[in-house]
Amino acid sequence: VDLVDLNSLRVHASASYLINVHSVDDLNHALAWAEKHNVPLQVLGGGSNLVFVDHFPGLVLHMAMKGRQLEPLDDDQAMLVLKAGENWHEAVLFAARAGYRGIENLALIPGTAGAAPVQNIGAYGVELCDTLESLTALDRSSGQLVTLTAADCCFGYRDSRFKHEPGRYIIVEIRLRLSRSAPFRLGYGDLQARLPSRDAELTPLAVAQAVMAVRQEKLPDPSVLPNAGSFFKNPVVSQADYQQLQARFPGLVSYPVEQGVKLAAGWLIDQAGWKGFRNERVGVHDRQALVLINHSGGSGRDILALARDIRASVQERFGVALEMEPGIVGTET
Ligand code: EPU
Repeated sequence: VDLVDLNSLRVHASASYLINVHSVDDLNHALAWAEKHNVPLQVLGGGSNLVFVDHFPGLVLHMAMKGRQLEPLDDDQAMLVLKAGENWHEAVLFAARAGYRGIENLALIPGTAGAAPVQNIGAYGVELCDTLESLTALDRSSGQLVTLTAADCCFGYRDSRFKHEPGRYIIVEIRLRLSRSAPFRLGYGDLQARLPSRDAELTPLAVAQAVMAVRQEKLPDPSVLPNAGSFFKNPVVSQADYQQLQARFPGLVSYPVEQGVKLAAGWLIDQAGWKGFRNERVGVHDRQALVLINHSGGSGRDILALARDIRASVQERFGVALEMEPGIVGTET
């Protein structure tokens, strides 16, 4: 099967087998089949954070489980329960329209609910882990469904347990604790200008719409310019390294974090001259250098080759190592 319609970079790549998983039963059957025939597995949500390379000699589990529910807990709070295959952005709008706060800053992030915890999606000062209460996953080491709390998931910046134990858990449902009165997070500069000026109009939906406007301005729509969102994480450097860099590059964009100083990878890539770069097939977005674009029939290898060149050039100029954000599926040579 060709995976071109199942990845937001729209690279052509193949997999030996693919199944659309609609239920836990489907999942169990697929896992039993894969074990019996000894084929490797790859879980796929919206395909917006993966780079497929050539061929995957195994079974792709396309998570298509649907279902979303808002379960009131008290006058203020509710649990948003999402099956893995639910579209993330639709779920954000669903909660915002119902008047619940907590995930409105995460509007327009592509992908599915089940994929959201893997990279702990985050934007405009909010991360999934701020509201995630618990999730249900199939633990392949025991074959059982297990409940993992937020603490069990070991969340960090674009990081979670699921990245460190790849293949072990298949997320089937997530539960988010939302509230009607939690404070909004509106600190991100670009957001301010797009928010309603009257407090009474400051609803979760209005915040989601402001976020959507900011994203539409900077980030390419994957259905127009195929991409996988930020291609690199924002690197964290020590205070000492930061001071040396700052002395050499006064324009350096950075934010203090617990472990040191986080640098804007987009700025580093931009300064290294890559913004708007393109070859015949792939390139770098002209409004946000952190996003790589498949312009015209590029392959996973083309994207990875570009990423390698960018990485080498940022390393050479700034002495900073960039770490890729999306996962790679298939063989990279
Ligand atoms: N910048 C440049 N040139 C560029 C891009 C950015 O100079 O080409 C500078 C800007 O000055 C800006 C700063 O870098 O002040 C940060 O840029 P931006 O606000 O666009 O955010 P980011 O750090 O590049 C992160 C997330 C995004 C998320 C935004 C908003 C990562 C890897 N990326 O980007 O997440 O939407 O913040 O919160 O943390 C994603 O993960 O796919 C994603 C889009």
